[in-house]
Amino acid sequence: MAVKTVLVTGGAGYIGSHTVLQLLLGGYKVVVVDNLDNSSETAIKRVKELAGKSKSNISFYKLDLRDRAALEKVFSSKKFDAVIHFAGLKAVGESVHKPLVYYDNNLIGTIILFEVMAAHGCKKLVFSSSATVYGWPKEVPCTEEFPLSAANPYGRTKLIIEEICRDIYNAESEWKIILLRYFNPVGAHPSGSIGEDPRGIPNNLMPFVQQVAVGRLPTLKVFGTDYKTRDGTGIRDYIHVVDLADGHIAALNKLDDPNIGCEVYNLGTGKGTSVLEMVKAFEQASEKKIPLVMVGRRPGDAEIVYASTGKAAKELNWKAKYGIDEMCRDQWNWASKNPYGYGSAENSSKKR
Ligand code: NAD
Ligand code: UFG
Repeated sequence: MAVKTVLVTGGAGYIGSHTVLQLLLGGYKVVVVDNLDNSSETAIKRVKELAGKSKSNISFYKLDLRDRAALEKVFSSKKFDAVIHFAGLKAVGESVHKPLVYYDNNLIGTIILFEVMAAHGCKKLVFSSSATVYGWPKEVPCTEEFPLSAANPYGRTKLIIEEICRDIYNAESEWKIILLRYFNPVGAHPSGSIGEDPRGIPNNLMPFVQQVAVGRLPTLKVFGTDYKTRDGTGIRDYIHVVDLADGHIAALNKLDDPNIGCEVYNLGTGKGTSVLEMVKAFEQASEKKIPLVMVGRRPGDAEIVYASTGKAAKELNWKAKYGIDEMCRDQWNWASKNPYGYGSAENSSKKR
């Protein structure tokens, strides 16, 4: 089979860098475009190191998707078999305060990408959607048929892009599109060389726990202890980022199915874990105590969210392999080797 070339937008980021590595190890050629707004070129360097003899199969362009001319140039220089589109801003709280920044970056960037793809005859796409589109689900597990809603501008950009994808497929049936709804990606590559490196104070549970463990933050606030769950704290479906990355390879394979149109798949484990259970697993993996402060609920948070995994298992032939102990082990391995992520103590609080 001929070697496939994939364009990965946002490939220097957390999920993107892990996916690029799995692509290289799987024999793909990869072109990454990223404006490095929330990432570091060091991630690309480390991916190359981990890719061994496949390291020559990656090229990187620092560009913003909204720079149509720069994107055009990349598409003119190579023919892509498919695009995996990760690039976007993702901080829920920030999106509430700066909605226009989110609509501009996520929507305009995506529309320009799709226009340039269409102009160059590349109509195969895997898009990073999110379990956030299920809002506060009335029941669990969440199946792909659940009603969709958005609780904040970030979530609305995901929902709008999903709708754009359905519309362009309805208009032109040669498009083949897979929308992947991620649940809660955590952990890092087992080498400890690449992992999540959020700018500023982390919003998400595990990056926060990690920074408490390495002494960068004093305590973890547990948001809500009165949910109707086993221990009163919120329940989520945490998924190892390497499993998630492999889900993208499965989605790329599915794009070769002549019957695929615009399809959506959950990527989760199907298992729910509470905040306190996750903290305990991390304490065991790291042998560090995480001091906790119990506080009120975070506005907008759902009580219990976890995935129905049947559709991805059946149609993508993909299933998550790792459990929370492996997620915490690999997250700690990354954190202990890189307490300041890809940066240093001096530039760790750099903000957008
Ligand atoms: P990330 O911030 O680490 O990666 C996103 C990358 O996109 C960054 O490297 C950033 O610099 C780049 N980028 C942003 N806007 C760009 C633009 N206009 N042009 C070029 N590059 C741009 O985030 P991540 O956790 O790796 O998430 C990847 C995707 O998955 C995002 O679309 C995110 O919304 C989605 N997602 C993430 C989660 C999660 O919890 N991490 C959950 C569900 C969905
Ligand atoms: N939590 C705390 N303390 C913290 C951070 C989080 O107790 O400092 C709790 C939350 O209340 C929640 C759980 O930990 O119960 C997980 O919270 P995260 O912020 O890590 O994840 P969310 O499920 O709230 O949201 C994340 C992303 C969304 C995405 C969603 C599903 O932020 O963008 O996962 O993929 F849509």
